[in-house]
Amino acid sequence: MRIDGKEYRTIWYENNVVKIIDQTKLPHKFTIKELKTVKDAVHAIKTMEVRGAPLIGGTAAYGIALAARENHNPEFIKKSASELIQSRPTAINLKWAVDRMMKKLSGINSDQILDIALKEAKGICDEDVKFCENIGINGLKIIEKIYNKKKNTVNILTHCNAGWLATINWGTATSPIYHAHKKGIPVHVWVDETRPRNQGANLTSYELNEEKIPNTIIADNTGGILMQRGEVDMCVVGTDRTLSNGDVCNKIGTYLKALAAYDNNIPFYVALPSSTIDWDIKDAKKIPIEERNSEELSYIEGIDENNEIKKVLIYPNKSKTLNLAFDITPAKYVTGLITEKGISEASYNGLQKLFK
Ligand code: MRU
Repeated sequence: MRIDGKEYRTIWYENNVVKIIDQTKLPHKFTIKELKTVKDAVHAIKTMEVRGAPLIGGTAAYGIALAARENHNPEFIKKSASELIQSRPTAINLKWAVDRMMKKLSGINSDQILDIALKEAKGICDEDVKFCENIGINGLKIIEKIYNKKKNTVNILTHCNAGWLATINWGTATSPIYHAHKKGIPVHVWVDETRPRNQGANLTSYELNEEKIPNTIIADNTGGILMQRGEVDMCVVGTDRTLSNGDVCNKIGTYLKALAAYDNNIPFYVALPSSTIDWDIKDAKKIPIEERNSEELSYIEGIDENNEIKKVLIYPNKSKTLNLAFDITPAKYVTGLITEKGISEASYNGLQKLFK
C-alpha cells in the first residue's frame, strides 16, 4: 500500500539486508531500518518495530535466513529459532513461520542454505500478500451486501491495527475495506484508539489516511454508544491466534467490542489468514497471553514543538498497573471468519470445511 503516494511492503530484502518500516516511530516519523543479524530480528519483534501477527511471522522467517548467513551450524540456527519463537508469545504466526523455515532447511548443506532460506522467507511473505488480498476479495462481499441494502456510507468499526502495517501488504481487517474503497463503495471507519500502545490511532488511522479512506479515531470506550445509535454497520478485527473451535485471541479490548456488537445485533467479523489458526490448542485458557511492560500504560509518547518524539508520565508514579496485551472473544460472539479461502462460521465444522 502507499505512504506519500509510494508503494511499500512492510518488509523486504535488499542489498544483503532485511529492511523494515520502524513502526515505533509512526505516525510522526517514517523510518526504514535495516536488520543484519538474527539478534536484530529478535529485537525488532520484541520492541514492536514490527508487530501484527503476519508481519512478525515474516520477520521471524527472515530472522532464520539471517541466522543461516551468520553461522551454518545447525545448533546455532536451532537456538536462534527458539529465541525468535519466544520473542512474542501470543501470535501463532511466529511459531508457524519458524517451524516452516526449519522444516525447509533441515538436512540442507551449508553451500545452499542461505539461498534456500531467503527464498522460503520471501515465499512466506509473498503468500501472506496473496492471502490478505483474497481476504479482501472475500470480505468485500459483506460490505457490498450492506451497501446494497443501505445505499449509503458503510460505517465499519475496527480495533488495533490489523491493516497492511500488521501484515506484508493489504492487511487482514482492512483488506475488505481497501477493496470496497477501490470499487467505489463509500466507507467510513471508526478507528479504536487501542490503548495502551495506540496502534489504532497511530497506525490504522495513518494508513487509511494515506489511502484517502475517511476515518475517525475514537476512544476505546466509544464504540458501545455508537452501536446503540446505529452508527456502526459492522465490526471487523484481526487476530493473533484463532483456535479450531473459532475462539479468537486478539488485542486487548476486542472482547468488549464483540459483546457490545452482540447486544446491538451488529455483525462482528474476524479476518485472518490460515497461518493464524492454531489447530493444536483446544482450550482458549491455554493460549499464552503476553503481559507487557507496565510503562506502556503509565507513559505516553507524542511529538513536541521541536518535532522530537517525547515520552511523558501520565499516572501517579506510585500506582500499580497491569498490561495484558490480548484477550479472548468466544466463538459465539463472532459472526464469521473471513479467510483467504472464503468466509467460515466461527466453529470447528466451519473451519474444517474450508481447510481440511
Ligand atoms: O500487539 P500488536 O500490535 O502486535 O497486536 C496486533 C493485533 O492484535 C492484530 O489485530 C493482530 O496481530 C492481527 S494483524 C493482521
